[in-house]
Amino acid sequence: MGVDIQTIQGDITKVNDVEAIVNAANNSLLGGGGVDGAIHRAAGPELLKECRTLHGCETGEAKITGAYHLPCKYVIHTVGPIWRGGAYGEPELLKNAYWNSLQLAIDNGIRSIAFPSISTGVYSYPVEQAAAIAVKTVKEFCVAHAGRIDTVSFVLFDRNTLHVYEHAVSELQRNG
Ligand code: APR
Repeated sequence: MGVDIQTIQGDITKVNDVEAIVNAANNSLLGGGGVDGAIHRAAGPELLKECRTLHGCETGEAKITGAYHLPCKYVIHTVGPIWRGGAYGEPELLKNAYWNSLQLAIDNGIRSIAFPSISTGVYSYPVEQAAAIAVKTVKEFCVAHAGRIDTVSFVLFDRNTLHVYEHAVSELQRNG
């Protein structure tokens, strides 16, 4: 696989050892609560100014901006699905959000990226299911694009989410 997949507990706005951090945004791309709010607060008002030029983002799609006062170089904004029970294409849309964020990263020559746990906060996606999709998608992408990504960090905000992602990564390593 070659890519180093890490899971750490912390605040993604403080991550300074990756080129891009991913924002769990909403379709407007005009900010919000949760990690979206934290990223906009830390980046400063120029981030919103640039986001206004992007005219929103479809669920599962991704768009890229500068990072301004954040300690990384880029912010990749993606929109995860709102959990509505699992029969409305949520798994596919969540996979697309990770896949398209990674695609945008390699299109921009980015080799190190940090993800929050997309959709598992306000959007209520069950964490175990989301973590399995996140880790599997990262692995599949990196196999399909060998040598393009060096590091993917999952930056989890609380201990429970950290443990769920740690388990998902170890399961992936066990099942190859
Ligand atoms: N760093 C890392 N992770 C964070 C941070 C942070 N500073 N703040 C929150 N999180 C975590 C949450 O604890 C959760 O595990 O990010 C995960 C995703 O939660 P949300 O931020 O609520 O994102 P999501 O569930 O995708 O909902 C998106 O929420 O904030 C609004 O504008 C956003 O409408 C959009 C919706």
